[in-house]
Amino acid sequence: MKHPVIKTLALAAACLPLLASAADPRAAPRTAGIESRDYQWAKMEGEMKEALAVKGVAKKGEEGYEVCGACHLPSGAGRPDGTFPQLAGQHTTVLIKQMADIRMGLRDNPTMYPFAKELTEPQELAHVAAYIESLCIPLDHGKYEGKDAAVQIASGKALYEKQCVECHGKNGEGDKAKFYPVIAGQHYKYLLRQMTEIRDGHRRNANPDMVKVIKPYTNDQLVAISAYQASLKMPGAMCKAGGKPGKK
Ligand code: HEC
Ligand code: HEC
Repeated sequence: MKHPVIKTLALAAACLPLLASAADPRAAPRTAGIESRDYQWAKMEGEMKEALAVKGVAKKGEEGYEVCGACHLPSGAGRPDGTFPQLAGQHTTVLIKQMADIRMGLRDNPTMYPFAKELTEPQELAHVAAYIESLCIPLDHGKYEGKDAAVQIASGKALYEKQCVECHGKNGEGDKAKFYPVIAGQHYKYLLRQMTEIRDGHRRNANPDMVKVIKPYTNDQLVAISAYQASLKMPGAMCKAGGKPGKK
């Protein structure tokens, strides 16, 4: 499948039926049996450690990213409907940790798993992460669209500043060295799904200290705090208005 058109068509065919299952990322968990208590968060071992130890080169990751672009888009923008997260702008450490966790079955992602499975070399993982890092941040993403957006965002901000700032930062910039994701400017529906999964204990690789904070949140509070996060601007080099998405 070297011909680019055939490759793209094959990928599209592979992705379409999967879009439906993306609505429920918990469908068919691959690794029933791994409980969060068995998992020491961000333990530096295996693939994650190896991929972090080698240098990623953006140019060398371009080809490896091709398959990812079928779902996350070539620009790394993901989809505003939240099925696929935005990857552009995310810390390389976070990308590597999440990929390694998904590959190990610590974070259920039946939609992506067959593709993640193919990335067998830690060096390749590092290259792909470096390539994603070289992408500019798309100008548009999915936001909360209810009429009460201003109220939701304000109450989400109050919660965020009390309980999330210490890890995810004042502007939602996360922390590269600590594997804390950028949450600013991510798609609202993706954020809401992750917040719910983490609260309910379904994202088993989640940071246990964050789980504690978020456990008592009501669904309404999750909506508000997700609306707030999506209202923030992702820090980093934005794509130029009217310009091509992709390279910085
Ligand atoms: C068939 C579609 C599909 C393909 C192909 C795909 N992904 Fe994904 N990816 C997803 C979905 C769906 C999620 C979100 C799952 C969830 O809701 O937990 C995701 C999540 C992620 C995340 C976690 C993001 C975060 O903010 O935590 C990373 C990193 C990621 N993908 C990287 C990649 C890379 C790198 C590739 C290529 C090797 C790839 N993906 C290929 C569907 C796909
Ligand atoms: C103790 C530090 C800590 C605190 C406090 C914390 N988080 Fe997190 N958060 C993390 C880490 C680490 C991850 C990534 C976990 C993993 O490896 O899967 C994460 C993941 C997330 C994600 C998923 C991002 C993605 O791309 O998939 C969202 C959304 C999020 N946090 C929002 C929040 C909000 C909102 C609060 C406050 C209510 C909060 N967090 C409190 C550390 C924290």
